Amino acid sequence: MCGIIGYVGSRPGVPIVVGGLRRLEYRGYDSSGLAVLTGGCIQVARAVGKLANLEPHLDGLEDGPDGGLHVVMGHTRWATHGGVTERNAHPHVGRSGRIAVVHNGIVENFLTLRADLATDGVAFASDTDTEVIVHLIERYVDDGMDLERATHATLARLHGSQAIVVMRADEPDRLVCARIGNAGGVCIGLGQGEAFVASDVPGILEYTREIIFLESAEVAVVTAAGVRARRLDGAEAHHRVHRFAWDPVAAEKGEYRHFMLKEIHEQARAITDTIRGRVDLETGDVSLEDLPLEPGSAPDRITLIGCGTSAYSALVGKFLIEGIARIPVEVDYGSEYRYRQPLVAPNSAVLGITQSGETADTLAAMDEARKRGSRVWSIVNAIGSQAQRVSDGHIAMRAGPEIGVCSTKAFTTSIVDQYLLACALAIARPDIQGSRDAARSLARDLARLPNLVGRALDANPIYEELARRFHHREHFLYLGRGINYPVALEGALKLKEVSYIHAEGYPAGEMKHGPIALIDEEMPVVCICVRDGVYEKMVSQVEQVKARNGIVIAIATEGDTALAAKVDHVIWVPEAPAMLNPVLTAIPLQLLAYHLAVRRGCDVDQPRNLAKSVTVE
Ligand code: AGP
Repeated sequence: MCGIIGYVGSRPGVPIVVGGLRRLEYRGYDSSGLAVLTGGCIQVARAVGKLANLEPHLDGLEDGPDGGLHVVMGHTRWATHGGVTERNAHPHVGRSGRIAVVHNGIVENFLTLRADLATDGVAFASDTDTEVIVHLIERYVDDGMDLERATHATLARLHGSQAIVVMRADEPDRLVCARIGNAGGVCIGLGQGEAFVASDVPGILEYTREIIFLESAEVAVVTAAGVRARRLDGAEAHHRVHRFAWDPVAAEKGEYRHFMLKEIHEQARAITDTIRGRVDLETGDVSLEDLPLEPGSAPDRITLIGCGTSAYSALVGKFLIEGIARIPVEVDYGSEYRYRQPLVAPNSAVLGITQSGETADTLAAMDEARKRGSRVWSIVNAIGSQAQRVSDGHIAMRAGPEIGVCSTKAFTTSIVDQYLLACALAIARPDIQGSRDAARSLARDLARLPNLVGRALDANPIYEELARRFHHREHFLYLGRGINYPVALEGALKLKEVSYIHAEGYPAGEMKHGPIALIDEEMPVVCICVRDGVYEKMVSQVEQVKARNGIVIAIATEGDTALAAKVDHVIWVPEAPAMLNPVLTAIPLQLLAYHLAVRRGCDVDQPRNLAKSVTVE
């Protein structure tokens, strides 16, 4: 889950590539580097840590003559193979110094290739898997191939998923890029007399809105005049040009200190956009523009798949689809699904939930489901991403760019999408009259949600006070029941991700079967205890925690003073239809994690060891 950027054109390339890397830094920030091809030579600059550490090294780089051709590529790393050192930073250069490569992915057979190259006398300068790529390409070039054909030949030797960009001093007018498998996308931006390469759209949105996506097993030659691509079998590859509406400003922090806080506060707008044009508030009819459901076409069984926050969203989705559409739902982690020999019944659908649309585990699971004959759908935020392109139908999250590594608005908008899907499925089922009308009325409830979210965002000045009291604690418990227990899991994940405090989420009823042993006067326990069908049960869980002197921070329905009297701290959320509560109860947990992390001085937008989209297994 590294970030790659490339440029070929008449403008100075270093600022364009550095600007693109800055926008892709959420993909990895262990080290970064650039390669510039000027006057028949390749110059490289690399540095460990954030991109800011690279900038002092750029002064010495000569970025091509004014008005001449500028060929530059860059990389920001999330380390998988080889420690976080300068020598393991990309770009990696061949023995001759005349070929350089940047890479996203894992070369699973790199040890074998390394041994083979070493017998050829290749001395490795790094501990990475990536370096075998540049030496293989160099070997084919030495055998007389041009860069495009050498890249083809090399790609055929690599196991695993890869996305690469290569530059060669002896072919100074081009970059060659290639992709095989699910290792994150390669998108190519088209410009007038220039072209851009990136792992992800936000990296080049400032420079172009016309973007094509390289498919797996394709190699493209990128010059200032344009792009020519071939599949590994040699056939010409043609691509649709996607025109992007996202404006790059949306990917700025604006007046907010962190992207995470900005994105939390964007949820009312994001949910309005996600509902817009999909519910007829008169009739309650639901239309999903990219996942049409004809009457009688609803699947008999659905499997929801995701990783991290998207997996917890799927757990909420199970409550929604089973509750509203009465269709049995299984939920699976993307990383587990294909290794358990899943049983795919006829007329099934597998739906991958993924903000980035590039998560390798989720894509691999969707692939597996297709191989087993299932319909494949997706709920995705990054339009144009692989998950959207490989699925039979998709529902966009419409959250806008999510830059903070810690996913927030994608969680709530993906829940709204599943709510819409559940209503649409119920309406498409002629065999359940009662539920169809119920579904229409539930769909109309959505109209109230943006306002309720706005109120939940503005309601509570309590977060800084809670952060002051609890930022030094090293353990937290999160409890929820029914449709809110996945939200408890999500709350714990948020806290772990951004504050590095150990936290566990549990279905509250499970607490007495073990976790209750952890509770004492030191343990803060966040209890989602809003007024819904399991409220009474949840209140008794709160009392069990208090009986062991635990500290209870309750997420409660506005006005529930009875509960407030039982607990240590209350965060109010407005009353809402039970099925929509998870959207509201998630918000206080996002803000609590944010403020605790800020108080602990953590890097909220780029937490250690994490990256925004996990494109390797
Ligand atoms: C959530 O805050 C994390 N960034 C992570 O768990 C994330 O949800 C997971 O990697 C899945 O990402 P996706 O939705 O882009 O597939």
